[in-house]
Amino acid sequence: MSTIDAAAFHDFERDGWERAAEYYAAAFGDVTGQIAAPLLDAVGAGKGARVLDVATGPGFVAAAAANRGATVTALDFSPAMIAAARRLHPGIVFRDGDAEALPFDDASFDAVVMNFGLLHLARPESAIAEAHRVLRPGGRYAFTVWAPPNQAVGFGMALKAIETFGRTDVPLPEGPPFFRFSAVDESQQTLHRAGFVDADTRVVPLTWSLDSADAVFEALWRGGVRTAAVLRAQTPEALDAIRTSVRKSVERYKDGDRFVLPMPAVLASATKPGRS
Ligand SMILES: C[S@@+](CC[C@H](N)C(=O)[O-])C[C@H]1O[C@@H](n2cnc3c(N)ncnc32)[C@H](O)[C@@H]1O
Repeated sequence: MSTIDAAAFHDFERDGWERAAEYYAAAFGDVTGQIAAPLLDAVGAGKGARVLDVATGPGFVAAAAANRGATVTALDFSPAMIAAARRLHPGIVFRDGDAEALPFDDASFDAVVMNFGLLHLARPESAIAEAHRVLRPGGRYAFTVWAPPNQAVGFGMALKAIETFGRTDVPLPEGPPFFRFSAVDESQQTLHRAGFVDADTRVVPLTWSLDSADAVFEALWRGGVRTAAVLRAQTPEALDAIRTSVRKSVERYKDGDRFVLPMPAVLASATKPGRS
């Protein structure tokens, strides 16, 4: 039996993103933005396509879609993220709203995308059902999540350091497993259960290029939500040991004057059946 309190986890995530919004673009934008082109290709988001970017954050994917000539709407549930996105991309329509209850009519988009959003949701199935509802028949849906932590090594090293030097049983609202959709079968089956067809999943090799060996810890500490909350719950001694361990792990990826970490992502896409 799941012990997840979806409402509590949803509020925990929203509060966390409100706090992280100021740091997120600098912390993660370089790596999450790299997948915008394959993500938009997967939904055929070309000139004139009506594209919805859900959980847009600072709007990296929305901006890439607008650059292709798509008609873009972007949505996020964090007012601070929406404010950051509007500052960065004043020409794009950004809306406050919830991925789990989209404020749009049925069949109003040709393509819906969600870049690294699904793994933060209390009710991911509701968000996938909503994407299906607002797509026109024949429309395309795609989302990305991180590959498992043994491949997306920035997460792997932090989780290992927390397990080794800190505690993982901290009192936080429980959410769905962070790496649930990293499993190709799970992504495809969930899309098919939601009524999509032709689900396809592939791994896209991204790299996280950092100017400091402390940048992974700092990104998770300031620009993340779940891991940030676990870190904040550690004792000062444990936190120091975790920070040092993550720094040493990052140093193994030194490349010239930078540190370059493999951070592959899983890109899943599918079609809403029918003809428009
Ligand atoms: C990891 S960030 C991804 C941001 C962006 N898509 C990118 O490519 O970097 C996750 C985003 O999901 C948003 N988010 C989380 N849960 C949401 C929900 N239920 N509805 C709308 N946005 C949500 C957060 O506010 C945050 O901006």
